Amino acid sequence: MTNLATPASPPKSETVHVSLTVNGKPVTVEVDPRTLLVQLLRDHLLLTGTHVGCDTSQCGACVVLMDGDAVKSCTVLAAQADGASVTTIEGLAAGGTLHPMQEAFRENHGLQCGFCTPGMIMTAVDLVAHHGPGLTEQQIREGLDGNLCRCTGYHNIVKSIAAGAQAMAGGSGSGAKVAAE
Ligand code: FES
Ligand code: FES
Repeated sequence: MTNLATPASPPKSETVHVSLTVNGKPVTVEVDPRTLLVQLLRDHLLLTGTHVGCDTSQCGACVVLMDGDAVKSCTVLAAQADGASVTTIEGLAAGGTLHPMQEAFRENHGLQCGFCTPGMIMTAVDLVAHHGPGLTEQQIREGLDGNLCRCTGYHNIVKSIAAGAQAMAGGSGSGAKVAAE
């Protein structure tokens, strides 16, 4: 006689606790160990300003700051962010006032559809932090190596970052000289 005992149900996947600071607020979530940081931000915390533009770690739409450094949040496991301080595009606009780099993108037409813009701006803030407000056009262009834009042709993005760098330093100049189109 065949034994028709019910097969054991597959084990539930284990979850991990992740505690981190996001945009200045402490957050603790329980996630599947395979969860990516970008999924934690978008799906668990509903911070959808961080975009997903590829599945090959190439577009840079998902860039956030983790402990002050720009990272592609689609390449970081949520568990790796345990204990970290993460800043997303939503965290830049304190009290409803645009960050100087956001304002510079607006003023210098550094975006068209806007899909790449959160990643561009987070990368730009990281570039200024590492190179200072006097960063050169070449440093900006090299720094944008991991960020793709399908709309703008990059010229106004570079211009925006140069202006934003100056504004972050409290100046109003145009920053790095950016060649005319
Ligand atoms: S979503 Fe494209 S690099 Fe992360
Ligand atoms: S503004 Fe459309 S992808 Fe960059």
